[in-house]
Amino acid sequence: MSDLPILKLRAVGKSYGDNRVLKGIDLDVMRGEIVTLIGPSGSGKTTALRCMNFLEAYDEGEVWIKGQLLGYRSAGRTAKDRDSEASIADVRRPISMVFQQFNLWPHMNALDNVATPLVLAKKMSRRDAREKALAALKRVGLEHKADSYPAQLSGGQQQRVGIARALAIEPEVILLDEPTSALDPELVEEVLNVIRSLAQEGMTMVMVTHEMSFAAKISDKVVFMEAGRIVEAGPPAQLFGNTRTPRLQQFLKPWLERSLNVSSEGVAS
Ligand SMILES: Nc1ncnc2c1ncn2[C@@H]1O[C@H](COP(=O)(O)OP(=O)(O)O)[C@@H](O)[C@H]1O
Ligand SMILES: [Mg+2]
Repeated sequence: MSDLPILKLRAVGKSYGDNRVLKGIDLDVMRGEIVTLIGPSGSGKTTALRCMNFLEAYDEGEVWIKGQLLGYRSAGRTAKDRDSEASIADVRRPISMVFQQFNLWPHMNALDNVATPLVLAKKMSRRDAREKALAALKRVGLEHKADSYPAQLSGGQQQRVGIARALAIEPEVILLDEPTSALDPELVEEVLNVIRSLAQEGMTMVMVTHEMSFAAKISDKVVFMEAGRIVEAGPPAQLFGNTRTPRLQQFLKPWLERSLNVSSEGVAS
């Protein structure tokens, strides 16, 4: 196995008009690694994730996928020369994305939600696509819901269909943007379980999450972002147990207090 990062960001920057929302992000993601991005709302987590597959065009630095430059014809800081859509699609092929709001088509059943991208993007026959889609639904435990429409599924099930759709293209990296934050609390666990099983299978993942306990358990690396920068990054034991920056300490404080309260109430009762 090579030690080339499967996904590499170098000095990645992004501005919306005068608002520079990413200010030079460096990140290496190795095959099989699970990297979680944490940070306050508006710190640029979603933008960073979307730049990793060029759903959003970054305008400084470089994103490399398996050693290939994503989005532009040449590296460097000068004016960016956008690559053709065909080459962008080609470079990003190993990556798929899971969205916060699921982004399912309401007029298609679960099977077709998963199968249709294979027909459109992978030019697969409808029959092969449906077969692959059914296998993907099986991986998330929803083959029995293949005929159900999104409105007939719980939020947790809808997100599991979203994950099946991401899996069906046989990605090498999955990007997940707050996959459980649109869910009622009692539905969070079933989605985390699916993500945990992917982790156990060795899937490479970059995930934005506010589920700190989950992040602490599942991650190889945690990245704390604030105002478009990476403030602190490292293994979970370091970020959660031996926090270096006051800013991260402050960010984690409510979570730490909540976990302590729960245990002291447990002792009291
Ligand atoms: N499409 C957009 N147009 C203009 N500003 C945007 C857009 N998307 C995000 N932003 C701004 O970029 C900043 C970072 O947003 P985002 O990446 O969504 O942060 P996070 O995911 O950490 O909450 C915010 O100030 C947000 O308002
Ligand atoms: Mg976000």
